[in-house]
Amino acid sequence: MDATSLALFAVVLLALSFAIHHVGKPTPLPLIPHNNLKWFVGDIHFIAKLAKEKGTMTHAFDDTALRLGPVSQVVIGLGASWISRTFGLGQVIVILADSQEMHDLLVNRAAEFDRSKLVNNLFAATLPQGMLALPTDQRFKHHKRYLGITMTNPYLARMTPRIMDRMQELVDLWSVAAKRLSMGSSTEFAFNALDDIRLSSIDVIASITFGTSFDGVKASLGYLEGNPSASPSSRPTIPKLVADLEVLLNTIGNGIFFPVSTILPWWTRTFNYKWHRALTSTHGYLRSRLHSARANYEAEYNKSEKPAAHKADNVLDIILERERGDQTRGTKTLTGAEIIDELTTFALGGSETTAAAMQWSVKILCKHPAVQYKLRTELLTNLPVINTRPPTYTEITDDNNLPYLSAVMYEILRCSRIAAAIDRDATCDTTLLGYPIPKGTRVLMPIGMVQQLESDGSKDITDGLDSVRSASSLRGRKTGYWSASDAHLFKPERWLCEDGSFNAIAGPWLPFSYGFRGCFGQKLALLELRLFLATTQLNFFFDALPDELNGWKSHETVTNHPVQCYVRPIPWDDVNVNLFN
Ligand code: HEM
Repeated sequence: MDATSLALFAVVLLALSFAIHHVGKPTPLPLIPHNNLKWFVGDIHFIAKLAKEKGTMTHAFDDTALRLGPVSQVVIGLGASWISRTFGLGQVIVILADSQEMHDLLVNRAAEFDRSKLVNNLFAATLPQGMLALPTDQRFKHHKRYLGITMTNPYLARMTPRIMDRMQELVDLWSVAAKRLSMGSSTEFAFNALDDIRLSSIDVIASITFGTSFDGVKASLGYLEGNPSASPSSRPTIPKLVADLEVLLNTIGNGIFFPVSTILPWWTRTFNYKWHRALTSTHGYLRSRLHSARANYEAEYNKSEKPAAHKADNVLDIILERERGDQTRGTKTLTGAEIIDELTTFALGGSETTAAAMQWSVKILCKHPAVQYKLRTELLTNLPVINTRPPTYTEITDDNNLPYLSAVMYEILRCSRIAAAIDRDATCDTTLLGYPIPKGTRVLMPIGMVQQLESDGSKDITDGLDSVRSASSLRGRKTGYWSASDAHLFKPERWLCEDGSFNAIAGPWLPFSYGFRGCFGQKLALLELRLFLATTQLNFFFDALPDELNGWKSHETVTNHPVQCYVRPIPWDDVNVNLFN
């Protein structure tokens, strides 16, 4: 090779190395601590490794925050480099893991941090005009005002008997299954409750949304009663509507692993035929319910001055009631398509989350016999009417009268990571705890880890952040601290004051997030969980299970579900309660 060719070769090599360096080297945001990044992939290998080890992707965010402090970052692919921004070859995710600053960001800084586009895209194909898929604009606010009424105390009070009916069906099913377990011929020690709870939560949300249950649990009960030799875990095929909802939920959940979220809605609509069939049949059902509810409502309205919907005990009738009011006032109503999407939002947003909460409840309680005994004793002592009639909304939600029930429920939600993380996108260039955050950056808050592990052990670090906190955050911490010695344990007593009263701000607790975009269904979810705990614990003691039936693995999509949920319910009459005294 002559000198000119050699020089040319050197220049090309240099240019190539320069290009590779700029293209392949992951670029984190300046100043913010990060892991050791690998060329071209950033933190992807690390996230994949933890997902394999722990079963969930979000453990990589928890782990990073625990090692690197209240503000850290993970880099996906090429991170924040120009090439990545231009061609979408990666992103930076900033992790905020300080409960005081998280609360402030969610409640006081909503203008700077909006619901992330990633989350909106997950829901955009299935319910494009539903709250879960909308950015915080006028349309979202209109929908929230429209539906907000369904989460008020008077409406929840009307829905309480419907939820109670569904819980009683679950108790009836488990009574039959439990009897089968105790029969000599049974080879099962416990039965699989995963699907029973899932069906029950869908039955609940269907009956409060449309006024009619899908009767999934009733069908299981009928099946067991009609097949005396069936095993305790045997169940019939799930109803079609439930199967369709499951397809929609799985499609949304699996979207979290889709590489380019902006094209996810288009991809789903174009290529996912199973999802298409499920959505078409769900919409068909919803449209027919809307049509008949409207016909009934009109008939009632024309008959009397006070239409039956004034006694509305389901969301559909509540929407129609509101619609009539708006038409009379000449204000804007929701379109038919918007109503269908919001009904779908209720059906999807309100079923798998509460199912996960109930499933984790069963798993946790059967490891804590003394908690079960104490809970039942409180119910029998402080709410004796529960022996003769279902409790009312006011009775079951009274923290002062049922402090232990509230404590157990809060502690289950603290320990179970149902939504392990939430996120927001920065809408402008701003700062977080002193670090510059460019517009468009995704900020992830690992709520599951923070509410479980932020303790007085890190108080010095937390106090030390005062010089960089935002002005609104400096107005003060809203909760106490957990004790470092037992923050990782399940201990409902942490929620009780010395006089036994319930303290909802004893320590960080964010299962429903906070602020304007926090969980819309929180009050309904808490009501459902209270009724589930009260009815099941009043009827049964959940016996301890061998480890192989109560593993702690979870399956994480939008929510975090246990992989296993077995239960061995024993009627309290057959339990030696002297063991607890
Ligand atoms: C234990 C049960 C539940 C848990 C743990 C839970 C948790 C959450 C969380 C963490 C968020 C995200 C909030 C954020 O990004 O800041 C959320 C949003 C939402 N949840 Fe729930 N949820 C539960 C039950 C329900 C129920 C029963 C409904 C019934 C309708 C519901 C409807 C919604 C809706 C519509 C949103 C979106 C709100 C918005 O976009 O502004 N959730 N939920």
